[in-house]
Amino acid sequence: MSANPSQELLLHRPDDCHLHLRDGAALAAVLPASARVFGRAIIMPNLQPPILNTAQALEYRARILAAVPPGVDFSPLMTLYLTDHTSPEEIRLAQASGAIFGVKLYPAGATTHSDAGVTSLRSIMPALTEMEKLDLPLLVHGEVNDPEVDIFDREQVFIDRVLTPIMRDFPSLRVVFEHITTIDAADYVALGPPTLAATITPQHLLYNRNALFRGGLQAHNYCLPVLKREVHRRALVKAATSGLPKFFLGTDSAPHARGAKESACGCAGCYTAPLALELYAEAFEAAGALDRLDDFASRFGAEFYRLPRATDTIKLRRRDWQVPADLPFGDQRIVPFRASDALRWKVEA
Ligand code: DOR
Ligand code: ZN
Repeated sequence: MSANPSQELLLHRPDDCHLHLRDGAALAAVLPASARVFGRAIIMPNLQPPILNTAQALEYRARILAAVPPGVDFSPLMTLYLTDHTSPEEIRLAQASGAIFGVKLYPAGATTHSDAGVTSLRSIMPALTEMEKLDLPLLVHGEVNDPEVDIFDREQVFIDRVLTPIMRDFPSLRVVFEHITTIDAADYVALGPPTLAATITPQHLLYNRNALFRGGLQAHNYCLPVLKREVHRRALVKAATSGLPKFFLGTDSAPHARGAKESACGCAGCYTAPLALELYAEAFEAAGALDRLDDFASRFGAEFYRLPRATDTIKLRRRDWQVPADLPFGDQRIVPFRASDALRWKVEA
């Protein structure tokens, strides 16, 4: 879907299949950047306190819709936060609501706002059984939180200890392995059954772990799962540009105020929403695969979630521009990913 692919790219309106929007003033500050480009997004439930039930998800959905700028069409696709205590009844309510598109598994303590997450596979068996029965997808943050496992190995160990048993015991459960970061995860998904898919972020396509330490500690490149070696980055680029419907766009845009990032204990999360599609275009262009971006961004995710593909379009134009150094974020400021850097693609207003 494109006119002159070296200068402009016409794409179906994309979906962001993994997005953190937060709440309150932060939500109001970040939502317009996503809504101006993406038609729908899978909304992460790791608020404080987390979104544990359908009533909370529907209220959160209403707050998101209230923050959508006038004249903009944006659909938040809600998720629940899985805990050791999520009941089959809660799963039934979620599915019956029609507004909830997945249930997110955060291993307890693995990442930002995951304290209420899952502590054992055994405790989530009743919820997973019901999700499989009702065909409600499981979304996983694929890292173990074992202090004896090196942080760069936590995704591989998650595959062995958590994901493989789930795939074995729940063969019909649809699972999204979120924000994969390793060749191991990419291969596991590519070779897995059609029920298994993965999202890939722009930062993991563009950067390896050197970006964390380039000329000093780079807080704004820190997210979880953390950036990995170059061999992993290349495998992710190969997966994203493979044309396999198992890999699709999920930015994991995760906003934190400047002070929370540039701190002695900086929060994990890259705020990519204002430049996300441009970053993907850069990564696909570097791989010589711009013609594969449209399906990755608007088709494969929609197919997995059984949604119609968008019928309207957006245009990316080749144009040099500079990412702002920072942006308003309630009464604070936020530093976007690639702040002050030059980019070569820009979504047309
Ligand atoms: O870097 C991350 N930030 N990874 C996550 O899993 C959570 C996210 C956040 O909510 O800030
Ligand atoms: Zn996330």
